[in-house]
Amino acid sequence: MKVEQFQAVRGMNDVLPSASPYWAALEETLRQWLASYGYCEIRFPIVEPTGLFVRSIGSVTDIVEKEMYSFVDGLNGEALTLRPEGTASCVRLVIQNHLLHEGPQRLWYTGPMFRHERPQKGRYRQFHQCGVEALGYAGPEVDAELILMTARLWKRLGLTEVSLQLNTIGSSETRARYRTRLRDYFLGHTAVLDEESRRRLETNPLRILDSKNPAMAQIIQGAPSLMEDLDESSQIHFDTLQQLLHDAGQAFELNPRLVRGLDYYNATVFEWVTPLLGAQSTICGGGRYDGLVEQLGGKPTPACGFAMGLERLLALLEMIPVWASRNGPTPEVFVAHHGATGWALRVAEVLREAGVRVLFHAGEGGFKSQMKRANTSGAAFAVILGDEEQARHEVSLKPLRGQGEQQRMTVSEALAIIKSNT
Ligand code: HAM
Repeated sequence: MKVEQFQAVRGMNDVLPSASPYWAALEETLRQWLASYGYCEIRFPIVEPTGLFVRSIGSVTDIVEKEMYSFVDGLNGEALTLRPEGTASCVRLVIQNHLLHEGPQRLWYTGPMFRHERPQKGRYRQFHQCGVEALGYAGPEVDAELILMTARLWKRLGLTEVSLQLNTIGSSETRARYRTRLRDYFLGHTAVLDEESRRRLETNPLRILDSKNPAMAQIIQGAPSLMEDLDESSQIHFDTLQQLLHDAGQAFELNPRLVRGLDYYNATVFEWVTPLLGAQSTICGGGRYDGLVEQLGGKPTPACGFAMGLERLLALLEMIPVWASRNGPTPEVFVAHHGATGWALRVAEVLREAGVRVLFHAGEGGFKSQMKRANTSGAAFAVILGDEEQARHEVSLKPLRGQGEQQRMTVSEALAIIKSNT
């Protein structure tokens, strides 16, 4: 009888031993980078009440309409969702734990997010984000800090082919007025609109600007711009931000079509894009969300943040030679044994206690095959244990590099040699 073999869920990836050193190196770089800007890590659950995402991301966005993994908890009937992003959870955490009573917060998180999108290279159903959120800061200097921070990370990682796109989408009142103007404009062109855009006319006409349908490119190009009617405070905020970036020597491109796919944004929005990843060109996106804390039941609090996709960053890093040759942890000592398993396990523990990385032979195999494995393991020494070593409470030490001979000695003598040669 053939036994069914299970496959990972489509769009959800395994990380194999050959890839995990890259993940670890990226995560380590992220931690050091975040610490250098004074941001503190938070962790929140992978599952949250569905309403949290509907209320923050918006009920007529792609994420909420068709990409959320939502389910009813069979035990208590709660409507739950696998988190599709982190900003909503971060704000929930901050409100629930009264963090803003302690003053403004600079926070970050990393972990898997879930969206039921059509999988392709760079777009997955389980993907990983590193998100950074600054809550309680109203001025454009925080927008600038966040942007300069991302630029510093690209520099640390050695990424060069990335560029910054910047826009402002104004206050919610500006957007409400703009929505009406856009609706009126597109109503005059309904024959050209596809079905989805016609539906969006009533629900969220701003999202029509995001359409990739080439048949609509021309009318989208001719659509009125939000900038023609921007509120004064957003205008001042945006002008100052541009000046700050300019003073800091940070290049950017103004993109009036950049609206982002989540409803909580206002004023500043930005994205970092690369030409190297095909259709999934955005490696980082973010902006201001000054209304979200209040919308989720907290005190009115300005906020700004961004998140980047780690799979996309890793895909870029793989193209850089220094990143392309990373190995997992190699052992310093290989413990080979025959007929002395108990003594071998004890010796391995003594070595580890002293801080040595030890690979212990497990399973079948005589000394000859074990020594073959020892030689390919990357270890500098083999510690060999047989009946005689066990009887005398000694070990045999064999250097695996160079010409050194195998020698019998006490465990502490072996340890001293290992320590001074690894
Ligand atoms: P987002 O633009 O939806 O924003 O996602 C941020 C980044 O996550 C994207 O630029 C991309 O690199 C990565 N990403 C998104 N979806 C996928 C996917 N299906 N597969 C692989 N990578 C993906 C947010 O999530 C906001 N919470 C960002 C933010 C934080 N805004 C303010 N604070």
